[in-house]
Amino acid sequence: MIKLHDLYFKTFISEEEIDAAVQRMVDEISNDIQDEIPVFVGILNGSFMFVSDFVKKYPKPCEVTFIKLASYEGLKSSEDIHRLIGLTQDLSGRKVVILEDIIDSGNTLSEVYRIFKNEQVDELKIATLFYKPEAYKKDFKLHYVGIEIPNKFIVGYGLDYNGLGRDLPSVYQLKTTQHMTNLVLFGPPGAGKGTQAEFLKNTYNLVHISTGDVFRFNIKNETALGMLAKSYMDKGELVPDQVTIDMLNAEVEKNADANGFIFDGFPRTNAQAEALDKLMDSKDSQINAMIALEVDDEILVQRLLKRGETSGRKDDADESIIRNRIKEYYKKTAILKDYYTAQDKYYGVDGEGSIEEITERLNAVIDSL
Ligand code: IMP
Ligand code: MG
Repeated sequence: MIKLHDLYFKTFISEEEIDAAVQRMVDEISNDIQDEIPVFVGILNGSFMFVSDFVKKYPKPCEVTFIKLASYEGLKSSEDIHRLIGLTQDLSGRKVVILEDIIDSGNTLSEVYRIFKNEQVDELKIATLFYKPEAYKKDFKLHYVGIEIPNKFIVGYGLDYNGLGRDLPSVYQLKTTQHMTNLVLFGPPGAGKGTQAEFLKNTYNLVHISTGDVFRFNIKNETALGMLAKSYMDKGELVPDQVTIDMLNAEVEKNADANGFIFDGFPRTNAQAEALDKLMDSKDSQINAMIALEVDDEILVQRLLKRGETSGRKDDADESIIRNRIKEYYKKTAILKDYYTAQDKYYGVDGEGSIEEITERLNAVIDSL
């Protein structure tokens, strides 16, 4: 992963893949042109690396020249194309091949056609190393295409984001989500998870996703996923993981600009942890840490009994029920502790002491990520 200005990019197309694509284009074009001497016209700035590698591979004599056009600002193509350096030589009667680094909307290409309209060239062909078919809005034929890519912003191999990235030998793609800190928060009943989640949320500007809340929200609002979940619950069956994951996916997508998420109540099993990893991966992101509040059983029992005196929660009033809930918790989370330890992402945090002390310990862990 790399950062240019304010944005993160992930590796996308390797040097080897680019090299192979350039070679394929050279083979195709030299085969079509045969023994005539072509003029390759590179469109600056972006095409300088492509043109350089292309002509080095070109097996026969050729001429090279450049025109300089500019259309892109930041991450967006604009209609307003500036002709900075035009054609400086007579190309009448010549076989001309335009070498473009990338074709996006095709605006630049229409300008190229406008430039060549009165040039009386023998033949004008378009070759582009990268092509975004979903973004292309014109009808001009593209004679040679190196690599088709999805409609996402890329940098490297001549292409820039606000001036940076042209020098990179391989190509990177803008990450769907930017830099995130995603936590899975665990704690036995009475550990103070809810209180601490609230602090973390505010300090780090994270979105707290409590699976219980997400379920209640979807069912109450009768969303398609909520109704689906309910149909299983009404039959007394477990809601399939995929339904839960789909709900979490919707929450993540709703907050795609977030600094990160606190997952609470999910995952509960290995399969769910794997599914969550996959979900985050599909968002170009990851779980950074499983944080578990660790509190001695006796202290938990005392805390919950005390809470029971005022909360009126039945399950906080009975010591044997409390002990059972704690036992259940350890039974269930042990697997997950192993799962995240194997990835070097398990952080046990001492959950005894004052609320402030515990908050400080949690902050120290997150700051170290
Ligand atoms: P078009 O005029 O929309 O076809 O865009 C062509 C020009 O926009 C290219 O020559 C690049 O300079 C720039 N461009 C298009 N897509 C990208 C991208 O993903 N990254 C960087 N520059 C791009
Ligand atoms: Mg260009």
